[in-house]
Amino acid sequence: MSWFTKLDQAAFAAEMVGRIAFEKLQTGIVFNPQAKQLRDDPHPFYRKLRERDPVHRSGIVDGLVLTRYDDALQVLSDRAFSAEDRSWRRWSRFARIMAGRGVPDPYERDPSMLRLDPPRHTRLRSLVSKAFTPRAIDRLRPRVEALAEELLDRLPATGTIDLVDALAVPLPVIVIAELLGVPSEDQDRFRAWSEHVAMSLGDGSAATLRNSQKATAELSTYLGTIADQRRAEPRDDLISDLVAVEEEGDRLSEGEMLGVCVLLLVAGNETTTKLIGNGVVAMLRHREQLEILQSEPKRIEAAVEETLRYDGTVQYTSRFATEDTEIGGFQLAAGRQAIVVLAAANRDPDRFPDPDRFDVSRDDIRHLAFSHGTHFCLGARLARLETEAAFKALIERYPQLDFADAPVRWSPNTILRGPEALPLALAGRHAID
Ligand code: HEM
Repeated sequence: MSWFTKLDQAAFAAEMVGRIAFEKLQTGIVFNPQAKQLRDDPHPFYRKLRERDPVHRSGIVDGLVLTRYDDALQVLSDRAFSAEDRSWRRWSRFARIMAGRGVPDPYERDPSMLRLDPPRHTRLRSLVSKAFTPRAIDRLRPRVEALAEELLDRLPATGTIDLVDALAVPLPVIVIAELLGVPSEDQDRFRAWSEHVAMSLGDGSAATLRNSQKATAELSTYLGTIADQRRAEPRDDLISDLVAVEEEGDRLSEGEMLGVCVLLLVAGNETTTKLIGNGVVAMLRHREQLEILQSEPKRIEAAVEETLRYDGTVQYTSRFATEDTEIGGFQLAAGRQAIVVLAAANRDPDRFPDPDRFDVSRDDIRHLAFSHGTHFCLGARLARLETEAAFKALIERYPQLDFADAPVRWSPNTILRGPEALPLALAGRHAID
């Protein structure tokens, strides 16, 4: 059944237009993450917002939008802020109409650990944490590095390629598929499913929610079949481990188990794919930095950190005040939302000198690209490893790497920023004719 009719979509769009107009009138500046102008480069807008209105009252999200590093850190560290999304029904007229028709709240059904507070969060996180300990991830290094090389082996020595299709998508998809224990031949289906599910993180429109619900349902059915196979015949993989926990009693329901798998696929694929793309764009736009990496490959690790700071994937996250609270001199009433713009905090000049410069030799790159506190990215070490392997393989193999004569196409996903097409000339731009 389709929950959202064309009329619903129009009602939602109309509600958003009204909210944008109200915000513009109140503050003279609008934080609209869906705005098309932000797609190619959101940073000039973030800078303007941070300079003019760093604690911005937003009509669209009915709360505060934070772009300074210290404010971001305060909200992410403070127990007075909850990750459980409670306000959608309250602030959206559209959502209330849907509720009246018995449509389940998309944010409340089967919440993932991302949207839970302790102790419910702790329980889910601890069940998967053992697959992500430093030792477990370090053991994957040879496989991840070999995979990056294998993917590049399939490419020609010269000519143009799309880096997204050739390397940035398959590398994390295959790694997470192997970790979970699902066949890597299904990577194209994973890509499509995880893209649809991830889109709903940054776009609350009815059409996107509908696609994302369909993709989640298909992915869950698919993973459910694999879980059944592992119940009958366990293997050395994460789905078998999770199934074993489920069978121990009431510790993990089937819905929760599938939710964990879906989260890992979505959180683990799109984010890393886009980080690899963002890093390569940054290096090619700052060739002197690429040259440093070519002559000093040991700095590639720092280049990954600088990419996370300079152009990290996750643009923002949100928290809800559980009590009346002050942030940056402004009051946020209990129940209201704080949008923490991680990508803007990472370019706060009070925290990072000359923040708009991509500089792989920075001394202190302690960014917030993986968030902070309770929800600090569980896959951070794996993401770093994959991105480092991708950068290393590319830099070593293609010293003349350059943009091809076709534009970078940026993804319409406004929460996970990155290229969806990155045409590159492997042997330099002039060698391709
Ligand atoms: C460049 C790649 C990645 C980036 C930028 C990234 C970023 C983030 C951020 C910002 C959060 C926290 C959001 C919040 O505080 O509300 C998060 C949480 C999470 N990430 Fe990542 N992530 C990446 C890769 C991965 C990978 C590879 C995996 C696993 C395979 C993963 C799994 C998770 C999980 C499970 C959570 C939820 C943690 C919790 O709620 O306790 N991520 N990630």
